[in-house]
Amino acid sequence: MNPVDYLRISIIDRCNFRCQYCMPEGTDLQYVLQQDWLTQAELLTLIREVFIPCGFTRFRLTGGEPLLRPDVVEIVEAIASLPDTRDLSMTTNAFLLADKAQDLKDAGLKRLNISLDSLDPETFDTIIGYQGRFTQDGIRKSRWPDVWAGIQAAATVGFNPLKLNVVIIPGINDHEVLDLAALTLDQEWHVRFIEFMPIGNGDLFGDRGWVDSETLRQQIRDRWGLTDGQVVGSGPADIFQIPGAKGTLGFISQMSECFCDRCNRMRLSADGWLRPCLLNESRQINLREGLRQGMPLWDLRSQVRQLLEEKPEINFKERDAGTTGRYSRTMSQIGG
Ligand code: GTP
Ligand code: 5AD
Ligand code: SF4
Repeated sequence: MNPVDYLRISIIDRCNFRCQYCMPEGTDLQYVLQQDWLTQAELLTLIREVFIPCGFTRFRLTGGEPLLRPDVVEIVEAIASLPDTRDLSMTTNAFLLADKAQDLKDAGLKRLNISLDSLDPETFDTIIGYQGRFTQDGIRKSRWPDVWAGIQAAATVGFNPLKLNVVIIPGINDHEVLDLAALTLDQEWHVRFIEFMPIGNGDLFGDRGWVDSETLRQQIRDRWGLTDGQVVGSGPADIFQIPGAKGTLGFISQMSECFCDRCNRMRLSADGWLRPCLLNESRQINLREGLRQGMPLWDLRSQVRQLLEEKPEINFKERDAGTTGRYSRTMSQIGG
């Protein structure tokens, strides 16, 4: 069993996109009240006094969209400056990244993972649930160029590795697999194909289903060949490389394979719930309430240690239950 030392911290549950697979249209999004967000001070106390003493040393900031949180750069700076922080990364949609990439780098963020599901602006807008906007001259304005500018800015300021996450939805973007994989030929980028998961999106999923990683690998193998590869990371991706390419390809195959036995992470929500497994909704603890009620920090530490002890059993319970259940929180609320 892997040591559990990686905490995914959702710093906000709101998002400026409405990705169909993550927060589909019509979803009743019950946002956490801002007063219930962990404040920066509370978050720091939990990291320093509870999570680090319990063995967590790698942190990833997620959302919703983490760049919507006004104090995101300060949060990065504070976590990066803790002597026990071994890795600090962020997952973002990059829409607001172009202006913030340099500040995040200067604040000590080490790695960025960015969602990019299509290279075609119209398909991209369809996936993120954006109708497009027309300028006075009748030109349709997509959100894709801003995201692309964010990716370029991240590369320019020196984020490395820079990972691009692609969720393949049959009939929507599965014809772009080779174009997306080709991004790794000349750039030292890491494109990861993620199997579409049925979390909070039953209708879309039921309609479309998912494509397994091996099918995608075969397409890529037929075109260029494929060898094993390597990239820094703490997640479940299997890494490959097109021979001679500068970047790598990753495959996150939670539907076709089970990687629960190598799970190394827990998730903290924006309102302070600690969740031992992406798929688990039954065994969580509310650290914010404990903190605000003045519960001693040793007590919070012992609750987290208890959850760590139970985690292997929880992982397997969820694996056995499969990934087809219904969840009360969407991926955007859990932080991916
Ligand atoms: P690094 O490898 O450290 O770069 O991070 P990562 O791949 O864990 O981070 P990212 O936020 O980019 O996550 C990519 C996707 O992997 C998520 O959106 C999920 O779809 C999937 N994933 C991450 N963690 C889990 C997990 O615990 N269980 C399952 N089933 N899927 C996960
Ligand atoms: N299935 C697979 N991946 C998902 N993500 C969001 N929703 C889903 C889903 N239903 C991914 C996004 C993003 C990451 C945080 O979570 O691609 O990169
Ligand atoms: Fe899309 Fe990420 Fe926002 Fe979900 S949280 S809607 S995946 S950008």
